[in-house]
Amino acid sequence: MLLVFLGPPGSGKGTQSRRLAAELGIVHLSTGDLLRQSVDEGTSLGSRVASYLDQGQLVPDDLVVDLVASRLDDPACDGGCLLDGFPRSIVQAEALDSYLTKRGTQIDHVIELQVPLEELRQRILARSQIEGRSDDTPETITARLEVYVSTTSPLTDYYRQQGLLRTVDGIGTPSQVAQRIRAQVAGDA
Ligand code: AP5
Ligand code: MG
Repeated sequence: MLLVFLGPPGSGKGTQSRRLAAELGIVHLSTGDLLRQSVDEGTSLGSRVASYLDQGQLVPDDLVVDLVASRLDDPACDGGCLLDGFPRSIVQAEALDSYLTKRGTQIDHVIELQVPLEELRQRILARSQIEGRSDDTPETITARLEVYVSTTSPLTDYYRQQGLLRTVDGIGTPSQVAQRIRAQVAGDA
């Protein structure tokens, strides 16, 4: 099974996708987590991507596509994978499609989490007090939200046209949202 989680910063992609991947026994693959890890570990990828993360801008498509392809090639993903935060541009979505076509597989569902703007800001600002992510500052949150609208949100039409888009209301407790997602994945929503 291959699932894609789409949604603006703070919409609950990480919260929900970690939970669902554990329930389904599939790999949770978060490009944001992998990129932050590369920065923390000081790898050559980390040194190339740090400034993009800190400014809330997308890392160049080719770097992220290579990163995800190498992970999907790992046998650990043979049993299924949940992509959290990838693809994030039409270029990335097309690269993923061509990668999957070569492998003879396809995406099963694209889950789009919908949360109003003001709630997104509040959630991220609340998290900034606890986790200290370098991109959880008011200015960078604004930049991330703008990038979502300009570059990532066109993916909803892209996947709607492919019949893969499942839109989920992301307001409520994490358990309520999880239940809506389960219903979509099971096809009985
Ligand atoms: P990434 O790490 O993916 O960050 P993001 O998209 O900005 O989203 P967040 O991780 O902030 O939010 P989330 O949707 O996961 O919500 P969460 O569950 O944490 O990307 C970071 C950066 O990496 C990008 O800006 C870019 O530079 C780079 N990058 C990553 N992927 C890339 C790609 N494909 N291409 C290029 N660059 C890429 O929840 C948020 C908070 O709300 C938490 O505190 C949580 O506890 C809380 N919460 C969750 N659910 C609820 C609920 N139902 N009610 C109340 N609070 C809730
Ligand atoms: Mg996240």
